[in-house]
Amino acid sequence: MDRYAVFGNPIGHSKSPLIHRCFAEQTAQQMSYDAILAPVDGFADSWQAFVASGGRGANVTVPFKEVAFALASRLSDRAKQAGAVNTLYIDNKGQLCGDNTDGLGLVADLQRLGVKLEQTQLLLLGAGGASRGVVGPLLAAGVGQIHIANRTADKAQVIAGLFDCRVTASGFTDIPHQPWSLVINATSSGLTQQRPDISASHLKYCELAYDMLYGKEPTAFLSWCQQQGVERCADGIGMLVAQAAESFAIWRGVKPELEPVLEKLTALVKT
Ligand code: ATR
Repeated sequence: MDRYAVFGNPIGHSKSPLIHRCFAEQTAQQMSYDAILAPVDGFADSWQAFVASGGRGANVTVPFKEVAFALASRLSDRAKQAGAVNTLYIDNKGQLCGDNTDGLGLVADLQRLGVKLEQTQLLLLGAGGASRGVVGPLLAAGVGQIHIANRTADKAQVIAGLFDCRVTASGFTDIPHQPWSLVINATSSGLTQQRPDISASHLKYCELAYDMLYGKEPTAFLSWCQQQGVERCADGIGMLVAQAAESFAIWRGVKPELEPVLEKLTALVKT
């Protein structure tokens, strides 16, 4: 049976096995999918052992996305743009290929939520790996302007420098006053119950506030947006399922349906 897995450290909390097993059942694919805890300095060895035992492809999560990027002999444009790989597979020539489906997952989730992306003015908070991976796919989906704001402004400038003039950057205090209709939090602030310290005035035209993190309760950022009167808020649970579906499609050539799996995962996480 073809083997797939998610590699991470830690990995016990990963929802990927549940998601991919649901996809496999739904699309009648004969495959297994496990969670593999790789030693922090031993990703390459762990991957080789997996391939030797029938491994065909994998998802890669914290802290291995950059190591996987370095290990792959063929990289998709998306992976190059993101500087990180979240999906590995062996192609029919036996080459190790690296892709990144995080940005596609975000775009798919925004489309599922009915958000208009064409010509949208988007405020993207954060300038870590999560932010860098989504800029290209958002532009490709037709977003008109992306302003990246980060606590450390320099890091936002570096990402903006990888793109054309549709992407601008600043610190939190000098975000331009424009009608941002979509505000996305790609910082990890929610992990410590904090939020990016931006002025509420940037939410005046916000039709959807989105946080890439997810959990049982709304993140500090989404709670604050709600208090400020933003009508629609969404967390990253849909992005998680959608990026997994893109990886699954790369491996198996069939795109699973998102909704049934999203419902199941939401019930698990939110109750
Ligand atoms: P990831 O790969 O999840 O993006 P990362 O590369 O460590 O993780 O980046 C974390 C991001 O969250 C950074 O943009 C960080 O801001 P700095 O570059 O200024 O460090 C941001 N971040 C983390 N905690 C934050 C907080 N409490 N408020 C605002 N931004 C925060």
